[in-house]
Amino acid sequence: MKVTILCASPRTDGNSRLMAESLRQGAVGSGHDVGLVELHAVMNGLLRDCRTCRRPDGRCSIEDGFADLVHDHVVPADAVVYATPLYWYGMAASLKNFFDRLVCYVSASYPRRGEVAKGLVGQRTGLLLASEESYLTAGLGVIFQLQEITRYMHQEFVGAVAGVGNQRGEVAFDPADPLAAAERLGAEMFTRHYSDYWLDSERPNTVWAAPHGCRREMGPYGDV
Ligand SMILES: Cc1cc2nc3c(=O)[nH]c(=O)nc-3n(C[C@H](O)[C@H](O)[C@H](O)COP(=O)(O)O)c2cc1C
Repeated sequence: MKVTILCASPRTDGNSRLMAESLRQGAVGSGHDVGLVELHAVMNGLLRDCRTCRRPDGRCSIEDGFADLVHDHVVPADAVVYATPLYWYGMAASLKNFFDRLVCYVSASYPRRGEVAKGLVGQRTGLLLASEESYLTAGLGVIFQLQEITRYMHQEFVGAVAGVGNQRGEVAFDPADPLAAAERLGAEMFTRHYSDYWLDSERPNTVWAAPHGCRREMGPYGDV
C-alpha cells in the first residue's frame, strides 16, 4: 500500500518530523511504500480568489509544486498522514493551506476533479501532533477539524499520536513514548479499526485479554 506523509513544520529536524520518521519506519516494516513531503518545500502561495486566479482551462495558476503534490503523492495514496506542530491550538498554516488549496482541485471547474475525488474517497488518514503543552484539550481543535475533513471526504481517520516537546527532537524524551506510538500507527495503518464498534457489531463485553481467569473471547474481527 502507498502511504504519503505530509510534514507541516518549517523545522525539518523538529518533533513532528521525528514522529513522521517513526511512522515511516513502522509502515516500511509492514511492507508499505512510504513517501514524505515537506509542505514548505512545495507551496509558496496561499489560496487566492479563484475567480481571478483560475486559468481558462480550469487549472490553478499558482506556479509551485502543489499540482504535482496532489496528483503524484496525495491522490495515488492509500493513506495520508499529517504531521504538524500545534500552533495556536490549531494545525500549522502550511497544512491548513494544503486543505484550502485542495479546494481548486475538487471544484467542478477543475478538469481532473473526478480523478482527484476518486483518489481521496476511501483513503485512510492519521495525525501526528507535536506540542509543548501536554494539557489534554490543547490539541483537540486539530483532531476535531481533521475528523470533519475526513468525514466530508469519506475517509477513515484511524489514529492520532500526540508528542510533547518544544526543543527540536525533545519529543523523544516524552515518557508516553510517542515515537513508538507513531511507529505502531505506521505498522497498523491498514489493519487498525476505524471505529471500535458499531451499534450492530457483535462484540464481547471485555476490551483486553483478561488476566484473572476470565475467558478470552473472540472479538467481531477475530482474535486481534
Ligand atoms: C507559532 C507557534 C505557535 C505555537 N503554539 C503552541 C500552542 O498553542 N500550544 C502548544 O502546546 N505549543 C505551541 N507551540 C510549540 C510547538 O507546538 C512545539 O514546539 C512543537 O514541538 C514544535 O513542533 P516541530 O518541532 O515539529 O516544529 C507553538 C510554537 C510556535 C512556533
